[in-house]
Amino acid sequence: MNIDFAPLKFMNDKLYVLDQRELPHQEIFLEYDSMDGAIDSIKEMVVRGAPCIGFTGIYAFALYLKTNNYSEGALRKAAKMIIEARPTAVNLAFEVERALSLALNALAEGQNPYLEVVNFAHEQIRLSEANNRAMANFAQDELIKIYGNKKFNILTHCNTGFLACGSIGTALGVVQNLAENNLIKHVWVDETRPYLQGSRLTAYELTKLSISHDIVVEGAASYLMSKGLVDAIYVGADRIAANGDTANKIGTANLSIIAKYFNVPFYVVAPLSTFDIKTESGDKIEIELRSQQEILEYKGVRIAPLTSTAFNPSFDVSLGQNISGIICEKGLLKPPYIASIRGVLNE
Ligand code: MRU
Repeated sequence: MNIDFAPLKFMNDKLYVLDQRELPHQEIFLEYDSMDGAIDSIKEMVVRGAPCIGFTGIYAFALYLKTNNYSEGALRKAAKMIIEARPTAVNLAFEVERALSLALNALAEGQNPYLEVVNFAHEQIRLSEANNRAMANFAQDELIKIYGNKKFNILTHCNTGFLACGSIGTALGVVQNLAENNLIKHVWVDETRPYLQGSRLTAYELTKLSISHDIVVEGAASYLMSKGLVDAIYVGADRIAANGDTANKIGTANLSIIAKYFNVPFYVVAPLSTFDIKTESGDKIEIELRSQQEILEYKGVRIAPLTSTAFNPSFDVSLGQNISGIICEKGLLKPPYIASIRGVLNE
């Protein structure tokens, strides 16, 4: 099962982004040759998913370097503009700050910062492949340790596959890996209101991968778990605080609470670029508020009464105490997360 499909391409000094707003029905790449355009692609969710937002941020910075002057102040301002495109996923700041340092060093050493930053972006995407695969193997080992060798029913939320991560993905990388080892019975895909990352994107990826799945509304989680139809839940993350509290797509925290009630293992799968130990706990994480229109309309068609308004927080925080384990490229972290996260970052 080898999918040759990339949501981001950088060719001839231009960034090409698969327009995820049009999926699953149309596969259209939009072309960007300026930093402002690339920032819009993040804001408008042409590209989305924490790791891919980070990679796009590096390319956006490269596009700035291609056409602008290189004063240190100008570079810092450009980096800040990119980082502010979306607030919750820490991967964006993590990657753009590294790209900024690289550019400043390249300048100091008389190298071409543009080429350095473009190559850095390619390298991060390439590295994510091995990292995603490592996480998937850790997850699989743990699942077999709990249940023995059998086929599993897995539930997942939002979209965490190649569209969100560039390579096989975090939580959905676990699913792909299990499927490659003939260990998947069925996947429950939360539709993930209001942007429908589950029914539009995860279902699209699972279809491409020929993995058996059903789309369910988030409200079905308790029913499925009460009937013993879920062996484990895997979700991604947009920011993991020092104590293990994890911001992820809205609805994830509900799942973590229901999973604890029914004793279903609930795992967060995320690369180290998603860890933010400067933020001590989840209540300090900025939650992105998105437009009401995402709830009140679908593709321009009004669903709600004309006078109704909506409130649209795009993420919520699952408390560390409700998370069975956090799986990163270095291994499976267990509570107390304050110690296991520090341990893995200081390694
Ligand atoms: O708003 P999005 O689609 O960019 O949301 C981010 C996500 O894709 C999810 O929260 C995901 O679970 C973490 S990123 C692999």
